[in-house]
Amino acid sequence: MTALISTTNLNVGYGSLAVGRNINIDVRPGEVTCVLGPNGAGKTTLLLTLAGFLDPLAGELAINGVVQKKANPQKINENGVVLIPDNRALFTQLNPVENLKLAYRKGGRTVDEVLDLFPALRERSRVKAGMLSGGEQQMLAMGRGIVQGPKVLLIDEMSMGLAPVIVEQLVPLVRQVSDQTGAGVVLVEQHVRLALEVADTAVVIVHGDVVLQESAAALKADPKRMEDAYLGASHG
Ligand SMILES: Nc1ncnc2c1ncn2[C@@H]1O[C@H](COP(=O)(O)OP(=O)(O)OP(=O)(O)O)[C@@H](O)[C@H]1O
Ligand SMILES: [Mg+2]
Repeated sequence: MTALISTTNLNVGYGSLAVGRNINIDVRPGEVTCVLGPNGAGKTTLLLTLAGFLDPLAGELAINGVVQKKANPQKINENGVVLIPDNRALFTQLNPVENLKLAYRKGGRTVDEVLDLFPALRERSRVKAGMLSGGEQQMLAMGRGIVQGPKVLLIDEMSMGLAPVIVEQLVPLVRQVSDQTGAGVVLVEQHVRLALEVADTAVVIVHGDVVLQESAAALKADPKRMEDAYLGASHG
């Protein structure tokens, strides 16, 4: 099956500065790939490049089999790739239903279908988004992506600023969304254990270099290698 997103020795970064190098990722329908790594590793830069906000610096980025030479976020979005940024970017004065309606796109999912995925959000669907809890806001941010009927969701640090107990509930929703909608997901996450629990594949980036890339189950079963990779980051 053709991958929705496929990168071959992709370098990502800013101008001439490659902050992520030789990245090889395939995103297929219904698969979750988590991207892990310490602060400053290049995770957000990678997502921004996959979403078409930054030019690929070297190597290849293909969306639906078509190689992308230049940044073109609108075209990539029209191909079904949706970025959920770490600032959530909600209309805080509008309620969840209104937020979802504004993000809706022809061929996407209905507001009702999205609220079915997040029962907790449905209960709060007439409350201004700015008054929602952090976890509810994050569900809404995901919902705004899902209502577009995405083929790929790129999710940047959904757990940022949230209490651990909330994060424990939110991260598994990513798996559920992928299973129920068939979307491929690239999940950037600081909560390593949780991310490995929901992902199929894990990519660990340290200082812009891919230091581990394999099945999430294999890494989960061997936390020592994960620790070593991160420790390498602070000592090297
Ligand atoms: N606009 C920019 N111009 C130049 N360098 C940048 C720019 N934005 C980020 N960087 C640098 O790129 C590197 C990777 O940053 P990036 O935000 O991708 O890391 P990250 O893995 O997402 O980190 P975090 O976990 O803190 O979110 C960092 O060294 C950062 O300082
Ligand atoms: Mg980041």
